[in-house]
Amino acid sequence: MKKITFIGTGYVGLVSGAGVSDFGHNVICADIASDKIDQLLDGEIPIYEPGLNNLVERNVKAGRLTFTTAVDKAIQDADVIFIAVGTPQGENGNADLSAVYKVAETIGNNLNGYKVVCTKSTVPIGTGAQILQIINQYKSNEIEFDYVSNPEFLREGSAVKDFLWPDRVVLGTPSEKAYEVMMDVYRPLFINETPIVKTSIQTAEMIKYASNAFLALKISYINEIANLCDEVDADIHEVTKAMGSDGRISPKFLHPGPGYGGSCFPKDTNAIASLARQKGLTLRTVEGAIKANQYQKDRMVDKVKHLCNGDVSGKTIAILGLAFKQETDDIRDSAALDMIKALLKSNAVVKAYDPIANKNMSIKFPEVNYCLNWEAAVEGADATVILTEWREFRGMDLNKVKELMHQPVLLDTRNILPIKELNRLGFKYDNVGRKGINKDAL
Ligand code: UDX
Repeated sequence: MKKITFIGTGYVGLVSGAGVSDFGHNVICADIASDKIDQLLDGEIPIYEPGLNNLVERNVKAGRLTFTTAVDKAIQDADVIFIAVGTPQGENGNADLSAVYKVAETIGNNLNGYKVVCTKSTVPIGTGAQILQIINQYKSNEIEFDYVSNPEFLREGSAVKDFLWPDRVVLGTPSEKAYEVMMDVYRPLFINETPIVKTSIQTAEMIKYASNAFLALKISYINEIANLCDEVDADIHEVTKAMGSDGRISPKFLHPGPGYGGSCFPKDTNAIASLARQKGLTLRTVEGAIKANQYQKDRMVDKVKHLCNGDVSGKTIAILGLAFKQETDDIRDSAALDMIKALLKSNAVVKAYDPIANKNMSIKFPEVNYCLNWEAAVEGADATVILTEWREFRGMDLNKVKELMHQPVLLDTRNILPIKELNRLGFKYDNVGRKGINKDAL
C-alpha cells in the first residue's frame, strides 16, 4: 500500500485518484480550487461521471480517499505524486502548460525524500523533460526523485470503467526503480494481465497523442464517407457494418455524426499538428481531420437550412442534445455550439433540451429557450435537430413528435431514428449518410 497524491481534481484526477484508492492505496486528491474541495468534502461530486459517486463514497468510507487544498503537505506526505491538472488549448493550437509548470515548481519546493512524480495530464511530447528540469531547479540538491509519464485514456461518460478496466497502462520512464513503484500502484491491473507498456518518457507522451489523433482521424474519415453516401444514395450504416467486420478496421469509432467535440480530440489534434509544424513537418492527415471536422459541423447547419427551404429566419428550431456526446454534461467543442451560433445569426428562434447539459449551454447562449423535456422543445417547432445520441431520443414516440411540431421536419445527425417510421409518418428529414432519405417529401 502506498501513499499517493493526485494534484488536480478534474475528471482525470478525481476518477484516477478514486480508482487508485480502490486498488487499496491511501490517496489524497489535492486542488487549489477550494470550492471543488469543499464540495468533495461534503460528499458532492463536482463532475457528472457515471459510477464516480459510489467509487468515491466507497473509498472515502474506507478511509483510503481524502481531499485537501493543502497541496504542499499532500506532496510531502506522498510516495507517488500524480500531476493531473488541466492542459487546455492555448494560442495557435499549443497546449497551455502553465498549471503543469506551477505544480512542478511546487513539487520541487516540497520534495522531502525520494518520490515518484507521474504526469497523467495530457502534455505535448517533450514536456516531461521540462517538468524534470523545473523540479530539479527547485528541489534541494541531495534529494532524489524519478519521473514517469503515465497518460490517461479515459472517455468522458465512461471514465470510471476506462480507468478500472483499461486496454493498456503506459509507463514512460528510464528508471527501473520508478517502474517497480508504478507496477505496485497498478498491481490489481497487472494481476489482471492488463498490458503494461514500458517505454521512454517521450514515447509515452507520443502514444497518447498518436492514439487520440488517430481516433479523431477515424471519425473524420467516416464522416466524409457518410457525406459521399448522401450523394450516391448508399447507406453508411451498411458500409460501417461491413467495414467494421474487418478486424483491422474494427466497428468502434466508426459512427458518423455532426463532428467530434469534447476536451480532448480538438485540443490534442491541434497540439500534435502544431508540434509537427514547429519541427518543420506537416501532419497532413491530422490537419485534414481537423478541417473535415469543422466542415462536418458547418454541413449540419446547411442541412437544417436545406430542410427549411434555405431560410430559417423567424423559424422555430428545436435542438435535442447539447453535450458533445451522451452520458456527459460537457459542451466543450460540442456540435451544438456551432449549430446554435449559426441559427441565432440567421435570426431563427432556438429551443433546446439536453438531459443534463442545459445549464452549461445556458451560460454560453442565454438567449436560447431551454426546455425540461424533449416534448416541450419540439412543441411548435418548424424543424427538430438531434445532435447528441441520448437514449431517450432513440425512444421518442414519433407520432407524438409529429403532433407537437408545427410541421414534421427533422435532422437526425446521429442516425438514431428509424427511417421507415419517419417515412411512414411523412416526415421531411435528413441524416448523415443513410440511404432512403426523403428530404423533399412533406
Ligand atoms: C477521448 C478519447 O476517446 C479518450 O481516450 C481520451 O482520453 C479523451 O478523449 P472523449 O473525448 O471523452 O474521449 O469522448 P469520445 O467517446 O472519444 O468522443 C469524442 C467525440 O467523438 C464525441 O463528440 C463523440 O460524439 C465523437 N464520436 C465518437 C463520433 O462522432 N463517432 C464515433 O464513432 C465516436
